Amino acid sequence: MARNLEARGRTPAYARLRRRFLRFVPIGPGERVLEVGCGTGVVVRDLAALVGSRGRVMAVDASRRLLDRARALSRAAACRRRIAWRVADGAKLPFAADRFDAALAITVILHVPDPLRVAREMARVTRPGGRVGLQDQDFGAVAVTHPDRALTERIMRGVAERVYAEPHSGRRLPGLLRAAGLVDVRLLTDVYQDTTLEPWTKTFLERRAERAVRFGIVDVATAERWLDGFTEVVAAGAFVLTMNYYGAVGVKPQ
Ligand SMILES: C[S@@+](CC[C@H](N)C(=O)[O-])C[C@H]1O[C@@H](n2cnc3c(N)ncnc32)[C@H](O)[C@@H]1O
Repeated sequence: MARNLEARGRTPAYARLRRRFLRFVPIGPGERVLEVGCGTGVVVRDLAALVGSRGRVMAVDASRRLLDRARALSRAAACRRRIAWRVADGAKLPFAADRFDAALAITVILHVPDPLRVAREMARVTRPGGRVGLQDQDFGAVAVTHPDRALTERIMRGVAERVYAEPHSGRRLPGLLRAAGLVDVRLLTDVYQDTTLEPWTKTFLERRAERAVRFGIVDVATAERWLDGFTEVVAAGAFVLTMNYYGAVGVKPQ
């Protein structure tokens, strides 16, 4: 998982949409920012640069192993002293109320069993007038070229339904923020686009195939045939994969 998060983080199309969302929030110099579910720290490293020498980033994740990896990966970064790391559950944050200027969760909400609880916790620890920002993919909005459309649909939908607590999380984020008591909610819809089968996209599709076999959606031969279909499409110069990302931001009332 750590390798996969870093590979996604480096993929230019993904880096662009992640940074566009951070500008949309926006994150500025001198701010105290919380990231819930920081993984290997891809977003934390961007945030540490954005908040500047007077700002601070608090990075939390439920996984100690990922947090250790994140700390190691940030060691060489010039801005590492602006970052603090802590193991914590987004549904029960170990912070006093009103402590942060902004609280973010990037590609996390779709994994959590109780998104409203996490959004409320993020709102609680954000100061009045501060922002809560959530960004997620929406697995009901993935388009990919393949010779066998029905098989592609069966694998993509079947795997997403079993892997994510809410595969359509992206489109629900604005409503989630309003339900958590935030106001002035804005939405930025963005698209991950790949026409060359980037390494991260290739791994994404291979993992979909592996999981489709594990969940009994298809057999091994069918999964291999499905992956071979992408090779043909790429060779013909016809590969397109797009995935919608929804970024929502709300303000904590004064
Ligand atoms: C897909 S990763 C995203 C990592 C990072 N935000 C990024 O965009 O690269 C999701 C992360 O959320 C963490 N996570 C899932 N549920 C969580 C929870 N309830 N509280 C804190 N972290 C959680 C996972 O451990 C994982 O590191």
